[in-house]
Amino acid sequence: MDFAEVVRRRRMVRAYTDQPVAPAAVRRALDHAHRAPSAGFSQGWAFLLLDDADTVGRFWSATTPAGKGDNAWSRGMRTAPVIVVPLACKRAYLDRYAEPDKGWTDRDESRWPVPYWDVDTGMAALLMLLTAVDEGLGACFFGVPPSQVQALRTEFGVPADHHPIGAVTLGHPAPGGVSRSARRGRRRLDDVVHRGGW
Ligand SMILES: Cc1cc2nc3c(=O)[nH]c(=O)nc-3n(C[C@H](O)[C@H](O)[C@H](O)COP(=O)(O)O)c2cc1C
Repeated sequence: MDFAEVVRRRRMVRAYTDQPVAPAAVRRALDHAHRAPSAGFSQGWAFLLLDDADTVGRFWSATTPAGKGDNAWSRGMRTAPVIVVPLACKRAYLDRYAEPDKGWTDRDESRWPVPYWDVDTGMAALLMLLTAVDEGLGACFFGVPPSQVQALRTEFGVPADHHPIGAVTLGHPAPGGVSRSARRGRRRLDDVVHRGGW
């Protein structure tokens, strides 16, 4: 698919058909994700792949706060056959930037303009979203409630130095699976671009 079309077609998809996703398509999304740029080429990311009904079900059990989950959003999202959890590893960045060519041996976190570990993992997630479109699939990036992160770690044995930046559902879009954003409307380009100054 033409690149501009991939970008324009991408929308968060929040409901999926029961058609399985070809493993090769998931593999390609992950391959593209791990080609994302990363500060110092730290590549301090990891991707928890949940691609069967058991692991996907355990994801939802772990990440849904008690008493929540009986709503349209959850019902739609739970139809996704595949979930990828992108995780960022701050320690990998502190290690990388303590190397001689960077020299931040004090590992002082105030040196970092923003948490590049989260930025880079977010860039990787975007590549998954775009690859999904290119594969004729739908995807949605969404947040893991902070109250449920420990449960997610425990359920899947996530190491303590990795934190989920969110999660990505993947699958074949169901009719009506795109919602919300269209209602709000996209800001005009001229309102967000400040050429030469604010
Ligand atoms: C960092 C981030 C967090 C998001 N969290 C959620 C979420 O928790 N649940 C959800 O349904 N969508 C989530 N979204 C999707 C946004 O709602 C969506 O991108 C926005 O409404 C624009 O719609 P579009 O991506 O379909 O163009 C998130 C997107 C980003 C980038």
